[in-house]
Amino acid sequence: MSNRTRPLAGNLSDYDISNLTKLRELYVAYDQVNVALNEISDFHAMTRSSSRGGCMTLVGDSGSGKTTIVKSYYDAIRAANRNVQDEMPALLVTLPEKCSIKELCVQILIALGDPCAEQGTKRSMEIRIKKLMDARKVELVIFDEFQHMIDPDRDRVVHTTADWLKTQMNLLRRGYLLVGLPKFERVIRTSDQWRRRVESRFELRPFGWDSERDQAHFLKFLQVVEKMLPFEDTGGLLRQETLPKQLIMASNGYVAFVMRLILRASMVALAHGHTTLQTAHFRKAFRDLESYGIEAEQNPFSGMYRREPVERPVIRKRREAF
Ligand SMILES: Nc1ncnc2c1ncn2[C@@H]1O[C@H](COP(=O)(O)OP(=O)(O)OP(=O)(O)O)[C@@H](O)[C@H]1O
Ligand SMILES: [Mg+2]
Repeated sequence: MSNRTRPLAGNLSDYDISNLTKLRELYVAYDQVNVALNEISDFHAMTRSSSRGGCMTLVGDSGSGKTTIVKSYYDAIRAANRNVQDEMPALLVTLPEKCSIKELCVQILIALGDPCAEQGTKRSMEIRIKKLMDARKVELVIFDEFQHMIDPDRDRVVHTTADWLKTQMNLLRRGYLLVGLPKFERVIRTSDQWRRRVESRFELRPFGWDSERDQAHFLKFLQVVEKMLPFEDTGGLLRQETLPKQLIMASNGYVAFVMRLILRASMVALAHGHTTLQTAHFRKAFRDLESYGIEAEQNPFSGMYRREPVERPVIRKRREAF
């Protein structure tokens, strides 16, 4: 962290900033996260004990917490193996946006610690990938952003790369965890060979408020977050009155947006010198974050909120005269 002095004082003290940073980096191992981690761990153990390798998928909408989960698994594996130099039982590779074979090779080589990752022909890269995977004793390869196997411009599977990867999976025989938006499952559906490879699938779902079970899960999550809030713990700061339900409505239950709202509301409260968190802070936070001319009827933290989307007058763009 930088020790530079701040050019302007700002509204928040250094103490506030340090607390908010902790909140921002908070990782909560809530129920669904634990179930997913257990499944990944079982899958990893199964593929480790077999010479055939295998494939698992982890899918979820944007902000459902996929990367956070696989990163925490990857970190845990690395921490458990920190005394074994050069061994990497798990590898975390983020698929590049333009997912050509070469770009993917580069990303795999970077993850494997190849100092010359960008150099060489495709063939020489393949040879280095095999060598390094053996040398590093890689058991599990996690591919994040797997939806990049679909070309966004043409909305078509990048068949050359997908076929290349399928062949490498056969040759290298490791465990593969494919992670990304649900749309990547189109890649799996393109052929029976892909379909046969996938042995298990986990879908991350947003928090909900419909059943008692959903509510209990969300309240448990909020209880953990509350302990990290930079306010006096009055017992249930985030669980007061209708706040949990409003948080679900404002975020559609996605953990990323829940955390973003809580962080912003905390900033608002601290910047005003308040010592506790109230619905008004969330109302302002929602307005700040959804600043597209939001109206009170569209703000779940407002008393005027209506669930139905507010009809907006159609604004026709006037044709500009050049
Ligand atoms: N377990 C968790 N505890 C606390 N906050 C979390 C957790 N999981 C996710 N978040 C919050 O949500 C944000 C987004 O999560 P993440 O990047 O894992 O989502 P994602 O599903 O990978 O989204 P995308 O598809 O856009 O890549 C994180 O930066 C973090 O602020
Ligand atoms: Mg992600």
